[in-house]
Amino acid sequence: MSMSVRGCRLLGRSTLTNNIAVRASSWWSHVEMGPPDAILGVTEAYKKDTNSKKINLGVGAYRDDNGKPFILPSVLKAEHNIISKGLDHEYAPISGSAEFCKGSISLALGDNSEQVSSGLSCTVQAISGTGALRIGFAFLSAFHTIDRGVYLPTPSWGNHTPIIKHSGLVPKAYRYYDPKTCGFDMKGALEDINQMPTGSIILLHACAHNPTGVDPTAEQWAELSQVIKKRRLFPFFDMAYQGFASGDVAKDAQAVRMFLKDGHHIGLAQSFAKNMGLYGERAGAFSLVTGSPEEAKRTLSQIKIIIRPMYSNPPIHGARIVSEILGDASLKAQWLTDVKGMADRIISMRVALQNNLKKEGSQRDWSHITDQIGMFCFTGLNKDQVEKLTKDFSIYLTKDGRISVAGVTSKNVEYLAHAMHQVSK
Ligand SMILES: Cc1ncc(COP(=O)(O)O)c(C=O)c1O
Repeated sequence: MSMSVRGCRLLGRSTLTNNIAVRASSWWSHVEMGPPDAILGVTEAYKKDTNSKKINLGVGAYRDDNGKPFILPSVLKAEHNIISKGLDHEYAPISGSAEFCKGSISLALGDNSEQVSSGLSCTVQAISGTGALRIGFAFLSAFHTIDRGVYLPTPSWGNHTPIIKHSGLVPKAYRYYDPKTCGFDMKGALEDINQMPTGSIILLHACAHNPTGVDPTAEQWAELSQVIKKRRLFPFFDMAYQGFASGDVAKDAQAVRMFLKDGHHIGLAQSFAKNMGLYGERAGAFSLVTGSPEEAKRTLSQIKIIIRPMYSNPPIHGARIVSEILGDASLKAQWLTDVKGMADRIISMRVALQNNLKKEGSQRDWSHITDQIGMFCFTGLNKDQVEKLTKDFSIYLTKDGRISVAGVTSKNVEYLAHAMHQVSK
C-alpha cells in the first residue's frame, strides 16, 4: 500500500478534505513540532553556556584528556593505506563488504569460532550499531512469528524502544538496574525472565551497559544463559562497546561467546563507532548465528531483501578502515593498544573521581563509580541534584544522573567532584 493511500485511510475523509484545503496554501501546516532529542538537547544547552569551567558529560563520544575528539593512530594509518591503494568508489554489495563482514563476526565470536568456520553465521554490513539493530528487528518482525514482544532491560539505551516500534515489534521490559545498590538487580531480572512468554526476544547489552555502566558478572551471565535457554527465549545482543569496556576485546565478548557455547542461536548488532572512534563513518554489522549453513544462507537472502528498499547498499569508507585494521596483524595490534588506551583512561577517571569525592569529604558510598564499566556512569544523583549541577556549576548531563566518563579529564575531575559533593551532601 502506498504511503498516501495508507495516510488517507488513517486520517478519515473529512479530516482529509480539510487537510487538502489547508495544504493548498501550505503543504505542511498540519505537522506539529516534535520534541528535541534528550541527549542532543544537553549539548545545545552546553554550547550556549559562557562559564569557562563548563563540562559536557552528556555526549556519548570519547574525548582525550584535553577534552578533544580522538582519532585513533591505527585508524589514521589505515586511512593512509587506503588512499595509497587508489581504490574506486563503486557500489558495495547489498550485504556490504565481504571482508568487513568476515572481520566483524570473527572479532565478536573469536578468530577460532566454530560457528564462523562451520558457516553457521551470516553477517551483513550495517549503518553502524543503530542500523544493525534496525535490520535485525526488521528481520525478526518479518520472520520471528512466535511472539512480538522484545524485552529490554530497565533502563536501556533510549533509542532501543523507537527502533523496536519502528520495526513493528512491541517493546517490553525486564528489571535490570537496582537504584538502591547502583548495581545489577539479578534477582529481579531472573524473576522477570521467568515470566516471559516462550519465544520472546530478549535484548542483552553484551558489555558496558548504556546508560548504567552496570554489567552482570561472568557467573551471572552463565546463570542468565541457562535460564534464557530453559525459557526458550531468543537472545539478541547489542554490542556497541567491544574492547571499550575492559580494554580487552575477548573479555568484552565473553557473554556472547558463552551463550554460543551453551548452544543458543543469537542475533548480534555490532558497532565500530566507539571502539574505533568511527562515529560518523557508520560502520556496523548485523549477524545471525543459526542452526545450519543452509539456514544461514536462507536467512541472509531474506536480510538482503529487507536492506535493498531501505538504503540499497551500505557506505564503503568506514568499512574499508575496519577491514584494513582487522586484516593486517600489525595494524590490529596497534588498534588493540589504542582501544585499551581509551578504556584505561576512562577507568582511571573513575578512580580519580571517586578519590576526589573522598577528598571533598563526601560520606556517600561512591563504590559504584568504579564498579560500573564503560563510557557511562549512573551516578545515583537525582533530578534535582542534576539540575543544581547544571544551574550552579555549568555541568551538563542527562536528567537520569548519567555521566559520560569520557568527558572527565585530569583537568576537570576535581571541579566535578567538588560540584557533585556540593549538590549531594
Ligand atoms: C547500547 C547502544 N547500542 C547501539 C548504539 C548505536 O550507536 P551507533 O549507531 O552510533 O553505532 C549505541 C550508541 O550510543 C549504544 O549505546
